[in-house]
Order: sequence, then structure tokens, then C-alpha cells
Amino acid sequence: MALNSKTLTFEEVAKHNHKKDCWIIVHGKVYDITPFLDDHPGGDEVLVAATEKDATIDFEDVGHSDSATEMMERYLIGKVDTATLPAKVNHIQQPPTQAHGVGNQSSGFVVKMLQFLLPLLLLGLAFALQHYGKKKYASTS
Ligand code: HEM
Repeated sequence: MALNSKTLTFEEVAKHNHKKDCWIIVHGKVYDITPFLDDHPGGDEVLVAATEKDATIDFEDVGHSDSATEMMERYLIGKVDTATLPAKVNHIQQPPTQAHGVGNQSSGFVVKMLQFLLPLLLLGLAFALQHYGKKKYASTS
């Protein structure tokens, strides 16, 4: 079996989290980038900070070039067992924000209604004042 087809657990990968031994997870694959740290154009700090988690989003956010993606393959050592990824750092799981949204729905509705009603109320008030002012002026003259 080739070395880069090895399946590793998240816990196993996360142990390699410093400059002398640095493994990262991107798109479910595991890369031993220790020899690349000094050559990385983005610096070694960001790479060490990308350990102990699924670094897919971090990697994608930078907008790496195709040549960077090709370069990665040199450091491929296996894949991660995605079932072992902690929920917090697993980019595939996103529902919490949705659940949050349901609770805020009614207060969002109230804010929208107020935004609509407030200008109407102010307009009504302006008309009422104008009308009242005219009446007062008519009764004094
Ligand atoms: C094996 C993995 C990686 C390889 C081979 C790699 C390679 C490269 C290369 C070649 C560049 C130069 C620009 C480009 O061609 O896209 C670059 C820039 C950069 N990379 Fe990576 N990278 C890797 C992982 C990461 C990770 C996990 C991060 C985490 C955030 C990261 C952050 C950055 C940053 C911040 C820059 C600088 C962008 C700039 O200043 O223009 N890289 N990388």
C-alpha cells in the first residue's frame, strides 16, 4: 500500500503541530509540510496555526494558485478519517447558524415593521401639526 493512501485519525494528525513536525489537513488529505515551512511564501507561522484543525477554509480563503495546489501533492502522506474530525473544525457541518436564525426571526420581523411604520407615523404627525397650525392661524385672524 502506498504511503499517501494511508488513512489517519484526526488525533494522530493533530500531534504534528509545530515547526519541526508540521502536518495539515486540506480537503480531507493529510500533508507533512515540515520541509516546506521555510519556503512557504505566506510564512511558517500561518502553517503552524493551520495544524490541529481542518485547514481547508484557511487554505481556500488565501486563493492559492494552481501551482500552489500542485506543489502540495509533494507533501501528501495520506487522508484523514473524516468521522474523527471534531465538529467545531469540520467545515462540512454548518447548521448551527441556521438554528440560530429561527430564534431571531420574530425580532427581525418587528424591526422590519418598525422600519416601515416609523416614517408613516412621522408623516402623519407632520400633517396633523400642519392642519392644527392652519386652524389656529384661521381662528386668530
Ligand atoms: C501544502 C500546503 C500549502 C502550499 C503548497 C502553499 C503554497 C503557497 C504558495 C505557492 C503561495 C504563493 C502564492 C500562490 O502561488 O498562491 C502561498 C501563499 C500564501 N499561503 Fe500558502 N500554501 C500552503 C498552505 C497554506 C495554508 C494552510 C495557509 C493558511 C492560512 C496558507 C497561507 C498562505 C498565505 C497567507 C499566503 C500569502 C498570500 C500573499 O501574501 O499573497 N498557505 N502559499
